[in-house]
Amino acid sequence: MSIIFEQENQVFHLQTKNTSYIMKVVSGKYLSHVYWGKKIHTPDMENAQLNRGIGFSAVTDKENPTYSLDFICQEYPTGCGTDFRIPAISVLFEDGSRNMQLLYKGYKITSGKPKLDGLPAAYVEKDSDADTLLITLEDSLQKVKVMLMYTAYRELDAITRSVRVVNEGNTQVILEKVMSTNVDFETAEYDFISLPGAWGRERHIERTPLRSGVQSVESRRGASSHQNNPFMALAEKGADETHGGVYGFNLVYSGNFTAGVETDQIFKARAYMGLNDYDFSWLLESGEAFQAPEAVMVYSAEGFGGMSRTFHDLYRRHLVRGKFRDEPRAILVNNWEGTYFDFNEEKILGIAKEAASLGIELFVLDDGWFGRRDSDTCSLGDWYVNKEKLPAGIAGLAEKINAFGMKFGLWFEPEMVSPDSDLYRAHPDWCIHVPGRTRTECRNQLVLDLSRQDVCDYIVEAVSNILDTANIEYVKWDMNRHMTELGSAGLPAGRQKEMPHRYMLGLYRVMEQIVSSHPNILFESCSGGGGRFDPGMLYYMPQTWTSDDTDAVERLFIQYGTSLAYPISTMGSHVSAVPNHQAGRVTSLKMRGDVAMSGNFGYELDLTKLSEEEKEIIRGQISGYKDLRTFIQSGDMYRLASPFEGNHTAWMFCSKDGRDIFAGYFQILCEVNPGIRRMKFTALDPDAVYEILGEGKRYRGDELMEIGLAVDCFGDFQSRTWRLRRI
Ligand code: DGJ
Repeated sequence: MSIIFEQENQVFHLQTKNTSYIMKVVSGKYLSHVYWGKKIHTPDMENAQLNRGIGFSAVTDKENPTYSLDFICQEYPTGCGTDFRIPAISVLFEDGSRNMQLLYKGYKITSGKPKLDGLPAAYVEKDSDADTLLITLEDSLQKVKVMLMYTAYRELDAITRSVRVVNEGNTQVILEKVMSTNVDFETAEYDFISLPGAWGRERHIERTPLRSGVQSVESRRGASSHQNNPFMALAEKGADETHGGVYGFNLVYSGNFTAGVETDQIFKARAYMGLNDYDFSWLLESGEAFQAPEAVMVYSAEGFGGMSRTFHDLYRRHLVRGKFRDEPRAILVNNWEGTYFDFNEEKILGIAKEAASLGIELFVLDDGWFGRRDSDTCSLGDWYVNKEKLPAGIAGLAEKINAFGMKFGLWFEPEMVSPDSDLYRAHPDWCIHVPGRTRTECRNQLVLDLSRQDVCDYIVEAVSNILDTANIEYVKWDMNRHMTELGSAGLPAGRQKEMPHRYMLGLYRVMEQIVSSHPNILFESCSGGGGRFDPGMLYYMPQTWTSDDTDAVERLFIQYGTSLAYPISTMGSHVSAVPNHQAGRVTSLKMRGDVAMSGNFGYELDLTKLSEEEKEIIRGQISGYKDLRTFIQSGDMYRLASPFEGNHTAWMFCSKDGRDIFAGYFQILCEVNPGIRRMKFTALDPDAVYEILGEGKRYRGDELMEIGLAVDCFGDFQSRTWRLRRI
């Protein structure tokens, strides 16, 4: 068991391989937080837990005047009482009162990990992978129970948390806020790390010291978004890739979220993460329950690298599902940047034939194959093939592409509707809208109201109709706008603020139905690139299109930032044409290939326009990647130099058995007469001998790590890669 309850001291001790997470029930009723960090023995509570009265604090118990909830580290604070810091939960009772007092009621420890009702969550394959603790808190006056669920993974330094609220009273309760996790740290001596961005510039790393007040990241867009990611980390001062304590938090959710830290008056830090309370409320009738999403928490004493590798292992083994979890991903070509909407069957077959001759394994037909869609102004929702463009239909096209020896994949944007579509004309109330208000269009489209069951049923049927009538082995599931004018024709007035979360529950239901009934299709999610790159989507779809920005230099930043939480096997990464369509930059085919190979590799350009010399380079990249993917998609990633800190980026991927290594070094701008640059490898066996494949040279592991290999980079946008094998 990785979870212990010490009856005498009323202490809960959760243990993962290298970490401890400790709580204590104080005075038989308050659940307090004691410790999270490196694995320790259960401490002496007199020493480990400080209680103190502080000026202007309200005292909770007359019998214990030094005991102030405003001071102690709490596990799940309610606010609205004697703690003036940010609460984890807020409710409105039927009598108009908002005061909630959650006192400890009991606990249960079990092996394994239960599923979450209707929500994505990390899982276990066998009960011995993890243990779960369920702590019940209760507000006895209003008869509301709050169940805190913790799962400690035995072999990974990850703990997952979620919260369930149950209304056991006879009256209605309106839930206005419910965080999935709250951790009170005794000091605020940390830096706050987040992954903000924008379309085409997703998940850039920001690091700032904690300061008094609240620092937070959030999305109010109806999607986890390009602008912020449901990830944050707190790092000890000076922590870097290999040293220092780092606490990582990631929400398994794809909609509005909030994550932040409040630094209080005595420089303690309260970290929280959960559903955004902006435009959220949930009416709980008597007897009903609300399940909040899951938060994943990772502690690493070995800097950011250790944190990321734990997230990567957890997501690859315990979040991503289905047969593609463990299968090397196919090398694909996607026609979007090659043709945009301007294609017909002949053009598509031309690209596919060329792709097959280069060794590409999968052809993906992107936007523009359905309805009258020759531009982004119409037809979303009308999921029937455009026979003028594709006279043999999708089934016929798939057959012809299969005849080249390639798989066939197809693009959908199922959550959207164009005002100029048969679907919208038939069901104008099926989109998110407020009666009498403008229905704002973004990219000429509206969002379907997935809080409605009839809309969800339509999507499942329309998408399945296509998937079931052609040999489709890959789907790109896109989503290209955020929510505005929030409202649903399917909900009563008092429940309108439930719409954004009900939308996510509907989307999860739809994806579950489609994905589980098509186990042989590899699904890739996308939202104008990486606008919904989150663990919630990865539970249904094993990979995500990382960004619409395919420029190799931009991708160094995006992929480096993304790797803080998400594994390489989840990142779609393609070589596109130059000048790059998003950045206008011209980079070499070699650098474009080297960057894209540090992800799920593919091409996104018109291959028929390439010279023989370029095709030869591409053949080399493809055969190279077929060897690499067997371990880079499942191995360990080490970040060696950050693009956010200088002109050079370096990373390496190492198979779990340490035998196979692929490393890349990238220079953004030319440096004339530079100092000596070296690629210093890491995590090698110092005594072993490694051969650099293709160069025939051999070195000891210690030399590669301590002296490294000299790197000559001449010119802007240069890259160098090494494929090593331990002899
Ligand atoms: C946005 C995606 O990110 C692109 O890759 C492409 O699929 C377009 N949508 C198509 O409309």
